[in-house]
Amino acid sequence: MELIWRTTTVEVIEGSIVELDVDAIVNEANAPLAGGGGVDGAIHRAAGPELYAACQQFPEVEPGIRCPPGEVRVTPGFLLKQPLVLHTVGPIWFGGAQGEPETLASCYRVCLAEAERRGLSSLAFPAISTGVYGYPIDRAAQVAAHETRVFAERRATPFRVVMSVLGAEFVEAQERALMIESRRA
Ligand code: APR
Repeated sequence: MELIWRTTTVEVIEGSIVELDVDAIVNEANAPLAGGGGVDGAIHRAAGPELYAACQQFPEVEPGIRCPPGEVRVTPGFLLKQPLVLHTVGPIWFGGAQGEPETLASCYRVCLAEAERRGLSSLAFPAISTGVYGYPIDRAAQVAAHETRVFAERRATPFRVVMSVLGAEFVEAQERALMIESRRA
């Protein structure tokens, strides 16, 4: 699926994020930036060990925390085909009343802002927090769609956002959320 909001193209693409031709990919990391499973593991494997070393260079803002939830830290992509990795930490789902939607929205916002600040013209997101962090798929897809539309509404030059998803359920959820958001535009 592909849709266009003003000068921004939004695509839902099924497949691994490490295969995409974009300027930067978003990694759903953990707060210590220590690597992990899921998409984090796939990105570290494809980037090689220098990515882990670069992550460890970020200072701890609290013991064990190099990137608090909702923030972003940027590294090169090393062996990845994408020049940059934007590491963000999504919320763990505790039922939705612990600030999870705000933290998830912040992940999308800070990554889009960082991409813009660095003059990038494309960025790919995985479905942040929807794996082991347990965020309900549809709700997470709505947050992703909403924050992308807010970004697109004030962006004046071409930009491409890719929602990288694995599995039909995720494709459908993200496409549905984008359609709903389109009707709000
Ligand atoms: N490309 C795109 N999407 C992927 C890939 C990939 N290569 N691998 C997994 N996914 C999808 C999963 O299907 C899921 O929908 O990414 C989504 C998020 O899953 P997780 O990677 O488990 O991420 P999250 O729920 O945010 O949990 C983050 O997992 O591995 C750890 O270090 C990571 O502690 C952090 C936690």
